Amino acid sequence: MSLSVSAIESAAKQALAAITGAKSLEELKAVKIEHVGDKSAIAKLNQSLGSIEATERAEFGKVLGQAKASIGAAFTAAQQQLEIERDAKVLLEEVVDVTLPAGNSHKGGLHPLTVIKNEVSDYFLSQGYSIAEGPELEAGWLNFDSLNIPADHPARTMQDTFFIEPVESGLVLRTHTSPVQVRTMLTQEPPIYIVSPGRTFRADELDSTHSPVFSQVEGLVIDKDISMAHLKGALDDFAAKMFGPDAITRLRPSFFPFTEPSAEVDVWFNNRWIEWGGCGMVNPKVLETCGIDTSVYSGFAFGMGLERTLMVRQGIKDMHDIVEGDIRFSRSFGLGL
Ligand code: PHE
Repeated sequence: MSLSVSAIESAAKQALAAITGAKSLEELKAVKIEHVGDKSAIAKLNQSLGSIEATERAEFGKVLGQAKASIGAAFTAAQQQLEIERDAKVLLEEVVDVTLPAGNSHKGGLHPLTVIKNEVSDYFLSQGYSIAEGPELEAGWLNFDSLNIPADHPARTMQDTFFIEPVESGLVLRTHTSPVQVRTMLTQEPPIYIVSPGRTFRADELDSTHSPVFSQVEGLVIDKDISMAHLKGALDDFAAKMFGPDAITRLRPSFFPFTEPSAEVDVWFNNRWIEWGGCGMVNPKVLETCGIDTSVYSGFAFGMGLERTLMVRQGIKDMHDIVEGDIRFSRSFGLGL
């Protein structure tokens, strides 16, 4: 493009028209590249100043300078105006009406089994017990032998126990929380006051009252001069905590290899006796296996199913509801029972 006043004026006119025509900061940015920047017509005209006669340079230089100044001023003005408009738009678009009613979002809930497990743990902590835990994949020796359950005991058969392959590993999915008793007695000196809530496994079909995965809470006390009266007192208090102040327990003679004497615990709830769990005085054989001096110490143990406790207390008819994880079931209990 050859340098002439009309060429400068026409380039300036186009640039100004483009600048005023820009509707947004993005458009203005594109306009800047085309009409204001190094590749614009006006910049090219400016470059050609160098190749003209020195006598003409002053005059064209002046016209070019004015054109560039007016383009620059128009550009700055447009940019400021568009920024003001953008800020106003953002303020309007991002406005939050704090007076609107809150959305109907669902509150989370704990699974009722977790709630009752926490409730049991909190109660025993308040009574001075500690919480003990053990692995779900347990050594067969701890799950059976150490608890005086002999090799030919029916509980050890394939129908009841999930054995882990290879069978020579000696591992089982624990069938009760009692191995946690043994683990505790092997590692702690009496006095021992523990409860061990946890998951347990038996090869049962899932039906309305059974689940192959269920939960127990086991209690163990080892101290001097512990008698069955202490056991009964502890159970009555626990029952009152779980089933209300009118609940009492009754013991029926029974048999467990790891307790002697042993009893079934029933609880009086809603005008009937409910089978709740098992209990007894820890068999001296088990104490000896764990290196506890039976001439000084004795103890009691009890164990009950948490699902059963939950179902009885909350009137839940079907085990499926507990294991299926339908959020509508959990939600109906919220964060407490
Ligand atoms: N471990 C027993 C069971 O699973 C329950 C129990 C625990 C019985 C402690 C007596 C004492 O059936």
